[in-house]
Amino acid sequence: MNNYNNLIFEKRDDYYLLKINRPKNLNALNQDTISELKQCFDFIKKNSKGFYGVILTGEGDKSFVAGADIKEFTGLDKKASIQFCKNGHELFNNIERMPIPVIALVNGYALGGGCELALSCHFRFATGNANFSQPEINLGIIPGYGGTQRLTQIIGKSKAMEMMLTAKMINSDEAFQFGLVNKVVKDNNDGMHHCEELIKTLKRKAPIAIKNVIKSVNNFYDNSSDGFLEEINLFSECSSTFDFEEGVKAFIEKRCPDFKGE
Ligand code: COA
Repeated sequence: MNNYNNLIFEKRDDYYLLKINRPKNLNALNQDTISELKQCFDFIKKNSKGFYGVILTGEGDKSFVAGADIKEFTGLDKKASIQFCKNGHELFNNIERMPIPVIALVNGYALGGGCELALSCHFRFATGNANFSQPEINLGIIPGYGGTQRLTQIIGKSKAMEMMLTAKMINSDEAFQFGLVNKVVKDNNDGMHHCEELIKTLKRKAPIAIKNVIKSVNNFYDNSSDGFLEEINLFSECSSTFDFEEGVKAFIEKRCPDFKGE
């Protein structure tokens, strides 16, 4: 079942377990991982009968996903940045529209694209060491995988603005207070236990009704589709700035960026 380089994908009795498996890079999402996730969720969508949920987590106990792979940002021009956003949007929209619930077990850093990935899931459980942030502003860009829209939908405008404009990192208790996570769990093992309990509950519900609740709740937000499109334009505008190049360079060189506003 596991033909993936960057994922661990397992069929358990009545659910799927999917782990992002790049622990040396804190499970950062490179483009290969995005395309493997797409294949995997396509498979799950076609084979959802008899399965009551997907547990999505990160390998190791330090990071869920530490964001998009910043090392792939070098030389990202306007055209490539539009494709970059579209790849992420397509995947995250698919996750949001899965016919069975996807539970993000956030077991460490959920930064940038990692936070956005968790936001596209139907439930979020966070371990005690989880940390959430949208730090794109530090690189001279904006969230480009749907975060400007979904974070605002989920935690409201003022807290979303604060997180995106300051890159503030919040821990799992704050994330719970913000309504960003459904539950705080101790660690990976405790998290798996709570996810499995949730799957047992979901197993007792009508699958078609589950599928239609997901569809119907998503319909509520459909008028935001222009916001998603606009996000791609705004992200790609940032990608042609000096500050973006500088932000990425500074990260790779492990120093503070020297932004110039151009
Ligand atoms: N993209 C690519 N590589 C990443 C990464 C990312 N988003 N986040 C972490 N890594 C890599 C590091 O470059 C490092 O690789 P190296 O050993 O080859 O240098 C490795 O993962 C371990 O990270 P390191 O920074 O040494 O760990 P740390 O515990 O000191 O710090 C973080 C952890 C998460 C605070 C720090 O890695 C970080 O700020 N990452 C970037 C987060 C971010 O801005 N994400 C949004 C991108 S849009």
